[in-house]
Amino acid sequence: MTSKARPRKIKLLLSAAVTLAALAALTGCDLQETSDLDNGQQLFTQKCGSCHTLTAAGTSSAVGPNLDLAFQEARKSGMDQDTFEGVIQGQIEHPRPADPQDTAVYMPANLVEGSEAEDVSAYVASVAGVPGIQAPEFIPDQFFATTCGGCHTLSTAGTTGSVGPNLDDVLPGQTAAQVSESITDPNAQIEGGFSSGVMPQTYGDQLTPAQLNQLVNYLLQSVNGGK
Ligand code: HEC
Ligand code: HEC
Repeated sequence: MTSKARPRKIKLLLSAAVTLAALAALTGCDLQETSDLDNGQQLFTQKCGSCHTLTAAGTSSAVGPNLDLAFQEARKSGMDQDTFEGVIQGQIEHPRPADPQDTAVYMPANLVEGSEAEDVSAYVASVAGVPGIQAPEFIPDQFFATTCGGCHTLSTAGTTGSVGPNLDDVLPGQTAAQVSESITDPNAQIEGGFSSGVMPQTYGDQLTPAQLNQLVNYLLQSVNGGK
């Protein structure tokens, strides 16, 4: 296989990969068999998705490299899943310093550790750059519980976050347009007693208009007793 078209970054990855693959062979570890891919996907969405595009996880961000593109070529050239897992785990533990020409952001080390790092690595290795892979179906209650629930209480979702306003209390009486604006432009109006700049400003980019609608409908139905 020719590697002529392979970007420079992948070459770096690949040389690290050889060492890691050798290590994996020595210890006989095969993450795929023992990892929880669903947990890996959830963790990826929470800990990595704010910086990386990965189609299968439904995340889109240009802060770090697009992981589908990063693994496409290597996948085509026949590199195997175990090697990918090793590369990703290596990057999680010892992130390569970012190339300042590409990005000024440095990936923090050890965002996930132990079995969580294994789950995330196995998950990303199983989906990144897979030809024709689809974004997940958007399920508003799941999205809310994993993405927003850590900061917001919403009784139908069973979440109890208190960093932001309790949505059971503040949403009744609001229109869809108001709720939508609060999600895409959180600083437009600040609820009394809360600070601006705490709620992420990226949901407007992350969600398609249809997904945003579904989320807003879900929230309003939840607080208005299913009506
Ligand atoms: C704060 C932003 C940020 C977060 C969060 C983040 N990354 Fe990164 N990641 C980056 C940047 C920036 C790079 C590019 C480093 C470089 O230039 O080599 C990178 C590189 C990578 C690479 C190498 C891609 C390539 O092109 O070689 C992988 C794999 C990766 N990250 C996986 C993850 C995983 C898995 C997580 C979650 C556990 C994660 N990242 C969380 C910013 C982030
Ligand atoms: C890191 C914590 C955090 C996360 C994550 C977060 N929020 Fe918020 N949210 C806040 C804070 C703090 C406020 C109050 C200040 C403001 O309005 O920006 C707020 C305000 C809001 C409001 C306005 C409430 C009102 O008083 O009218 C809505 C609606 C909302 N968030 C929905 C969401 C949804 C939906 C998500 C997930 C897509 C989300 N938030 C994720 C912290 C968060």
